[in-house]
This record gives sequence, C-alpha cells and structure tokens, in this order.
Amino acid sequence: MDFATFLKETLTPMGLDWRRFQRRSIQRRVMARIQELHIASFRKYASRVSECPEEKARFRALMSVTISRFFRDSDLFRTLRDQVLPECADRHLPDARLLVWSAGCASGEEPYSLATLWRAYFHMVPIELKILATDIDPHCLRRARLAEYGPSSLKEVSRELVQTHFESRGQKFRIRPEIRQMVEFRAHDLITSDIPGRFDLILCRNIAFTYFLPSWRAEISRKLHSALEPDGFLVIGQNESLPAGSENYFQPRGTYIYRRKG
Ligand SMILES: C[S@@+](CC[C@H](N)C(=O)[O-])C[C@H]1O[C@@H](n2cnc3c(N)ncnc32)[C@H](O)[C@@H]1O
Repeated sequence: MDFATFLKETLTPMGLDWRRFQRRSIQRRVMARIQELHIASFRKYASRVSECPEEKARFRALMSVTISRFFRDSDLFRTLRDQVLPECADRHLPDARLLVWSAGCASGEEPYSLATLWRAYFHMVPIELKILATDIDPHCLRRARLAEYGPSSLKEVSRELVQTHFESRGQKFRIRPEIRQMVEFRAHDLITSDIPGRFDLILCRNIAFTYFLPSWRAEISRKLHSALEPDGFLVIGQNESLPAGSENYFQPRGTYIYRRKG
C-alpha cells in the first residue's frame, strides 16, 4: 500500500479530504510513528488505526494542521472592525451581549485577535463581547488557555496592541487577563458534535472548507447556518469558498464574509 492509498483508506471514514494531507511533513510523521510501533507497512498501520481507538486518536493528532497567527489576513480584521462588528453592535444596543464562535481556533490566535480588536476599538460601546473558541485538538486548547506566544505568532500585531494587550515574559508574550477572560475554550468536533449555541458571528477559517470531504462541507455549511442568529455573519478562510447549495442559506457580504439568510 502506498502513502496516498493509506491516506485515502484512513482519512475518508473520518470525513477528511485525503488529498490535502499528501505532504512530505505528514508522511514523515506517519513513518516515524510506524517505526516507533515496529510495524512493517502502511497497510498494517491502517489496520491498527481502524481497530484501536487510542491509535486512531494518535493518528488524528498526527494529521493535525494547527498553523495560525494573530490577525491572520489583516484585511479581514479591518473589515470586521469597520463593518461587521459595528453592524452587530448596532443590533444589540443598548446593554447586551454579542456572542462569537471561533470554530477550529488552533492555539487561540484567532479568538484572542478578535477580543483584542474589540477591547482596543469598541471599549466605549456598552456591549459585552463573549467568544466561544473550540477545537478538536486538546494540545491546542491547552496552549490556548496558557495564552503565551512567541514573536512569530505576533508578526501582524501592531507594536501598540502588543504593548497594551500582552505581557512580556522573557522571549514570549502573554495575553493580558482582561482579554483572556473574554474567551472560553472548549473541545468540539465540527463533524460529530452538536452546535454549541447560537451566535451573532462565526469564524470558521482554514478548516472545514479546506480539509473536509466535499460531502461534509455541505453538512457543515448547514450546521453553521443553524448556529447563527438571524442576520448573523459567517467568516470563512481567504482561499475558501462555501459549497454549492449554500446560496440558499447565506448571502455573500464581500469575498469571504456571508450573512445568514432566512
Ligand atoms: C489550520 S488551523 C486554523 C486555525 C484558525 N482558524 C486560522 O484560520 O488561523 C485548523 C484547526 O482546526 C482544528 N480542527 C481540525 N479538525 C477539526 C474538527 N473536526 N473539528 C474542530 N476543529 C478541527 C485543528 O486542530 C486546527 O487547530
């Protein structure tokens, strides 16, 4: 069995698009695990993954692509600041709560970026912003709760925001407590878990519409629709698009921002 066939057999039942995982770095990780287990082939490892839940979880972690950074795609965060968040806030005034879901939040870079933005530009608005940030990967969630980042994660954060919202810790920077308390982290699988509530804004970037099988993308698009308040906004990744049929649920508002229909 070659690596491509191995990926197809193991990832398809998990709802993942195996073609997205045909990378040398991922192949090296799998080979290292195979050697560690003293297993002779991809075929034997595929059987182990399908028969043993612990190995399946281990394999799922090997496949994890958790790259993220603060203010990834700075144009998007500008649009959120100038258009989307003010519109959401207008609907909620006075004195209420704005609920956001960051689905597939990696190590917290995305939800903390949004919380920082809110704190910096909307602190006069009498609305509380609460962010639920979810991910399937427990290591990511641990790092997210720790909230400590190296300089490479902060490349797109202005010096002023770093000074006001991060505490310097040797070579690292930790998000200040007032930002941390705006975000709740929780384990959640976009494929198998129920929606975790109803939100005014959902960010689901660089996960479902890149790595999931096309058949699952349509299902996720429907799930995200049902997790949005009427007129709520959905944001997907810069290089992603919603699957065919989503036009029944969402109205485009720019390139990768959509508004819930119906
Ligand atoms: C490439 S990162 C994207 C992070 C962030 N949204 C961004 O755009 O920078 C993808 C994240 O999705 C998570 N993920 C993968 N499969 C998932 C699933 N089925 N349910 C929830 N999260 C998942 C991974 O653990 C990873 O942290």
